Amino acid sequence: MRRSIVLAVIYSLGWIYLTEAQFPRVCCTVEAIVSKECCPALGSDPDNVCGILSSRGNCSDVHVDSKPWGGPYRLRNVDDRERWPTKFFNRTCRCFGNFAGYNCGECRFGWTGPSCDQRRAAVVRKDIHCLSPAELQEFLDVLDRAKTTVHPEYVIATQHWLGLLGPNGTEPQFNNISIYDFFVWQHYYSVRDTLLGPGRPFKAIDFSHKGPAFITWHRYHLLSLERELQKLTGNENFAVPYWNFATGRTECDVCTDSLLGGGDPRDPSRISPRSRFARWGVVCDSLDEYNRLVTLCNGTSEGSLLRGIMESTNVTLPTMNDVRSCLNLRDFDSPPYFTNSSFKLDSSVFNLHNLVHLFLNGTSALSHSAANDPIFLVLHTFTDAIFEEWMRRSRENASFPDEMAPIGHNRHYNMVPFFPPVTNEEIYVASEQLGYSYAIQLEGNKHAVNAHIIGIIYTNSVIIYLPILIEDVLFTAPKMYNCRNNIYVVLNINGATDFV
Ligand SMILES: *[C@@H]1O[C@H](CO)[C@@H](O)[C@H](O)[C@H]1NC(C)=O
Ligand SMILES: *[C@@H]1O[C@H](CO)[C@@H](O)[C@H](O)[C@H]1NC(C)=O
Ligand SMILES: *[C@@H]1O[C@H](CO)[C@@H](O)[C@H](O)[C@H]1NC(C)=O
Ligand SMILES: *[C@@H]1O[C@H](CO)[C@@H](O)[C@H](O)[C@H]1NC(C)=O
Ligand SMILES: *[C@@H]1O[C@H](CO)[C@@H](O)[C@H](O)[C@H]1NC(C)=O
Ligand SMILES: *[C@@H]1O[C@H](CO)[C@@H](O)[C@H](O)[C@H]1NC(C)=O
Ligand SMILES: *[C@@H]1O[C@H](CO)[C@@H](O)[C@H](O)[C@H]1NC(C)=O
Ligand SMILES: *[C@@H]1O[C@H](CO)[C@@H](O)[C@H](O)[C@H]1NC(C)=O
Ligand SMILES: *[C@@H]1O[C@H](CO)[C@@H](O)[C@H](O)[C@H]1NC(C)=O
Repeated sequence: MRRSIVLAVIYSLGWIYLTEAQFPRVCCTVEAIVSKECCPALGSDPDNVCGILSSRGNCSDVHVDSKPWGGPYRLRNVDDRERWPTKFFNRTCRCFGNFAGYNCGECRFGWTGPSCDQRRAAVVRKDIHCLSPAELQEFLDVLDRAKTTVHPEYVIATQHWLGLLGPNGTEPQFNNISIYDFFVWQHYYSVRDTLLGPGRPFKAIDFSHKGPAFITWHRYHLLSLERELQKLTGNENFAVPYWNFATGRTECDVCTDSLLGGGDPRDPSRISPRSRFARWGVVCDSLDEYNRLVTLCNGTSEGSLLRGIMESTNVTLPTMNDVRSCLNLRDFDSPPYFTNSSFKLDSSVFNLHNLVHLFLNGTSALSHSAANDPIFLVLHTFTDAIFEEWMRRSRENASFPDEMAPIGHNRHYNMVPFFPPVTNEEIYVASEQLGYSYAIQLEGNKHAVNAHIIGIIYTNSVIIYLPILIEDVLFTAPKMYNCRNNIYVVLNINGATDFV
């Protein structure tokens, strides 16, 4: 009985628009910006605005949260991100049923079929150490492609609202950007300072951290990128893996050349030239410069990825006990919903996640720039898995604050800078509703029943896997990964430990 009520509530939470972020290229014209209307036609018929001719949606006024916010940002009508996205657009497509997207051309997350009326099987997010060689290759390859492929539909604003049409009011200030860098830009834009004038930033503002929206914002951010990666691979079952960082160790076990890049022996703050990620440039890193020039990140490359793991002598990663105590928290949040208050799950997950960012140091330690490092992806997927597990257990107490959370963090606030608008509430649902799940066990199963040894032999860069099943063996092996019920021990036959 209770269960069905809970499910009914979840089903009735309403619209989940498919929104990517910033603005669709088709809406970045002088006319659309002056009229504040982003309601493109679907397909080639100009009358088919928002797919209205096939009853997919219509052009409607944007709803914004009218509840008061708390936290340190007390200015009004100064920051472009207040009442998002109405400084830019106050009319967008509202899609009916399960249709979604800026022109209602897609399905909501979790739905499929020509009429978007079929539930899609949830894609399964797995431990990065448990991917098959083909799955790992697909993941690394698609990251590279996302880094170099121009986003097909979205562009970024390079000036804040007052300067959006250029000095003459006739030249929209937008840039193309790659799919991965777009993901980085969204994160930067959500944490950037308020620009009050040259060198006068207001810093105590953050639309995606230090408040309850931390969880929903990052969940949506990942989900949007995951969909883009599914399109790029052509594999609709593609799922981003997670990195179980709760090892309590002092080394980063995904920082190897076969995964997300080892350290360069000549300069440990850089990624080894044997890794493809050594070639990744960072964007949106120069926050102080943007503040000085009163401008926005324009997506140009600003140097290489940096990590500082080798220097961090005594920072250790969180442990599974840290994760468990986080899972045992009772309330999602409580007043005043701000960093150092008594606030609960989100700050607890946030602290776990913060520690990992600090541990990685370098690019990852700067919140405006952290998403440049591909580790960001697998780190946040794990954080989301913790939240999902918590929600599965504690749904009855999962009340998201309606008001007085910091700006951007109220339940009905449209998350900045996603577009078309999507509220925190719409994403505060079980992951199955959004079309994904986790292959994970966050509790129990401390003793292995079966263990697989995967021997790896390197012969002229051909990797041969030798699966050997051993029953009930206790290992003191160099590395062990719990891949569901099995422990995978990865050994390099040549002696040195390595990872797949
Ligand atoms: C939307 O913005 C336009 C252009 O500034 C304005 O004329 C219109 O009144 C606004 N509509 C709403 C509902 O705020
Ligand atoms: C859009 O559709 C909604 C829901 O059917 C309706 O209430 C609204 O009046 C429509 N708006 C316009 C401008 O047609
Ligand atoms: C603005 O308009 C003036 C006069 O038409 C023109 O000379 C100038 O090049 C324009 N500037 C830009 C940035 O388009
Ligand atoms: C972005 O790319 C599109 C498609 O390649 C192109 O038509 C457009 O002019 C580019 N826009 C900018 C601002 O460079
Ligand atoms: C883009 O941003 C970079 C870094 O802030 C800056 O050096 C460059 O001049 C900008 N380019 C344009 C066209 O504004
Ligand atoms: C983080 O990196 C900075 C700059 O590279 C360095 O000064 C600092 O010591 C590093 N911190 C740790 C804990 O390694
Ligand atoms: C470890 O870190 C703590 C706090 O940052 C510091 O006080 C302590 O000296 C460090 N210990 C070592 C061995 O570096
Ligand atoms: C929270 O931190 C701010 C500054 O970071 C401080 O002024 C305030 O007193 C702290 N509040 C509590 C309840 O500790
Ligand atoms: C929910 O909160 C109530 C009281 O506030 C508490 O008794 C109950 O144990 C909590 N449930 C869970 C699953 O944490």
